[in-house]
Amino acid sequence: MNKQLVIAIDGPAGAGKSTTAKEIALRLGYKYIDTGAMYRAVTLLALESGISMDSEEELTKLAEEAEINFAPLRPERNTVYLNGRDVTDEIRSTSVNENVSLVAKIAGVRKALVKKQREMAQSGGVVMDGRDIGTVVLPQADLKIFLTASLETRARRRMNELQRRGENVELEEIKKNLRIRDYMDSAREIAPLRKAEDAIEIDTTGMTVEDVVNKIINLTKEVKNE
Ligand code: DC
Repeated sequence: MNKQLVIAIDGPAGAGKSTTAKEIALRLGYKYIDTGAMYRAVTLLALESGISMDSEEELTKLAEEAEINFAPLRPERNTVYLNGRDVTDEIRSTSVNENVSLVAKIAGVRKALVKKQREMAQSGGVVMDGRDIGTVVLPQADLKIFLTASLETRARRRMNELQRRGENVELEEIKKNLRIRDYMDSAREIAPLRKAEDAIEIDTTGMTVEDVVNKIINLTKEVKNE
């Protein structure tokens, strides 16, 4: 039987998680769950509702009540719905970028989203990416990958991505932001960014997306004993 695996991919911002995870999901015909998008969706809702980023109780309630869904994955787009509304582009806005770490560090918000993430992975055949998937959300995942890349590489990738969207940002500015996000993601008390002991680390510096994807696909074959 073709076993439907649960694959966890973690790593810092800009390491190539979402591009890689999406490609693997497409190749295997799996679901792709972008957990960062879920934290972003709650942040968007908070901004729209005028809820303060330090109001833990209100933010937790928002996260518990928010309905977040992903449409079936398409190569060009991973559509995210928040309470039935397509928010795929809005969750990448500057205001969401600037506030999402504040929302992601709240225990109640994390608890509510982790619950939703576990439900989404229940049926198997899923690639989930984030910061705490291998450590907290899916500690029993069949395959855990920890993706890294040098700060310079991550910053250049982010700059290219922004340029493709018509935004021009200085490389130094991007590096500064990545350093801050690395710090906030790794230093927070609850579910910090950390490699699970049984995760396989892949440094993607100097590797193409294709190289990384092939490497992970080969690992899935090993896990399945093919
Ligand atoms: O991967 P991303 O840039 O879309 O993540 C957005 C934010 O959410 C980032 O600050 C880290 C946080 N996050 C998290 O704390 N836990 C996750 N599983 C995924 C993202």
